[in-house]
Amino acid sequence: MKGVVLAGGLGSRLYPLTYATNKHLLPVYDQPMIFYPIRTLVQAGITEVIVVTGGPHAGDFIRVLKNGKELGLTHLEYAYQEHEGGIAEALSLCEDFGDGGDIAVILGDNTTDADISEAVQSFDGGAMVFLREVPDPERFGVPVFDPNDPSKIIAIEEKPAEPSSMYAVTGLYLYDNKVFEYIRRTKPSGRGELEITDVNNMYIKAGALRWSRLDGFWSDAGTFESLFRSSAYWAQRVTGRACEDFTRFFRPDA
Ligand code: DAU
Repeated sequence: MKGVVLAGGLGSRLYPLTYATNKHLLPVYDQPMIFYPIRTLVQAGITEVIVVTGGPHAGDFIRVLKNGKELGLTHLEYAYQEHEGGIAEALSLCEDFGDGGDIAVILGDNTTDADISEAVQSFDGGAMVFLREVPDPERFGVPVFDPNDPSKIIAIEEKPAEPSSMYAVTGLYLYDNKVFEYIRRTKPSGRGELEITDVNNMYIKAGALRWSRLDGFWSDAGTFESLFRSSAYWAQRVTGRACEDFTRFFRPDA
């Protein structure tokens, strides 16, 4: 399976941090943000990857990622998204790269220590989404479960004011090559974007979407709070020290 990392968009929720560089190159503890999703793919055995980026700082990616070898990639391509047309639009640029096969897609601002190898190895067509309980589902795509069969998703709602579950659809997806046909059928949403949630709903209508729970840590890093949370998690994980260790010197009695 080949991998797609979506790292376009302007990162305007992180202004002024993103005035001078792309959001996905900001640090999450000791690594540029985009290293994390690439590592998730490499850990799952996916070493042929395309990075879709855009905006005024796209060239910075080459200086950071180079040819991807340091991260374990055997092949790294780049695509340029001209406008912030949405996640599905960014993905549409990868059709040639996909070459008719299955693809693993990960959003460039998602970091996780979950291992998706098994899902990748056992994937047999359609679409697979990964769910995670969160305290603030209204910020995400949220699954609606069948009241008669709680293991079945009947729809996904994008940022619902009243979420019907406490799960977020995380920014990791496995797709067969029908995804590009479905993207062609989507229309821009109220925010003017081609939404990945609309694409996932097409798979649901076709009875071809499955889901799995993502174990371990998962967070996006596209807001100040989630960027800070991700850094705090990885600082603990990398150093083996508790978060309080880093903030102890804030307290006068420390
Ligand atoms: O993080 C998971 C969530 O990501 C999902 O639960 C939502 O269903 C999904 O729509 C998405 O929501 P966000 O509003 O958080 O997406 P955002 O606009 O922040 O974009 C996330 C990443 O997608 C971003 O870091 C880069 C990529 N992207 C986004 C846009 C809008 C692109 O490559 N191009 C784009 O035009």
